[in-house]
Amino acid sequence: MTDMDLIVNLYDLPADVEADPRPALAEKGIKIKRALAADKSDICDFIRREFSRGWADEAEKALMNFPSALYIAVYEEKVVGFACYDTSALGYYGPLGVDKTMRGKGIAQALTSICLKAMREKGYGYAIINAGPVEYYIKRLNAKIIGDHNCVFENLIVEPVKPDRTGEVIETL
Ligand SMILES: CC(C)(COP(=O)(O)OP(=O)(O)OC[C@H]1O[C@@H](n2cnc3c(N)ncnc32)[C@H](O)[C@@H]1OP(=O)(O)O)[C@@H](O)C(=O)NCCC(=O)NCCS
Repeated sequence: MTDMDLIVNLYDLPADVEADPRPALAEKGIKIKRALAADKSDICDFIRREFSRGWADEAEKALMNFPSALYIAVYEEKVVGFACYDTSALGYYGPLGVDKTMRGKGIAQALTSICLKAMREKGYGYAIINAGPVEYYIKRLNAKIIGDHNCVFENLIVEPVKPDRTGEVIETL
């Protein structure tokens, strides 16, 4: 299975995504912040350690946008989650990741809520997500699958596997 592209209507977000997620997280000692360049090393070290170098590079790109398109979750003065948009292509949301020990607390939901509303504020009507956990986005955002491809990422040094037209994965193109 390759990654899927999904689309989310930013003007029809579920009520719990539309709501401000920060008060509930603050009660658990977790803050969501728009990332600043001065924290780049700490953030990218976290992403490289927990996820991948490629995701750290994408986050760095988002951080260098004005305004920063990278949001982080902070717990006990440490980065425990991140999400960003407009990284490899404009209008794309992601990557998104939460520290394994901090999952299930609503951190991804909060990061997603804040990022998608920031995208809407920037002027987008829809966000595209190259996922990953397709069921998560369908369940949380009412996202719709629009494709089964990795076109945006085909210029990577190691190209993603592409499906054929029937949706079955073929190894080489
Ligand atoms: C997916 C991820 C970001 C969720 O983070 P989180 O902070 O635990 O998410 P939340 O607390 O907001 O939501 C947890 C809910 O999502 C569900 N969920 C988590 N991962 C899921 C998946 N892959 N598929 C379906 N549902 C999923 C959980 O079952 C839970 O459901 P519940 O609230 O009904 O019990 C996290 O598991 C992660 O970092 N995964 C690895 C990186 C990844 O896949 N990122 C997405 C890249 S596009």
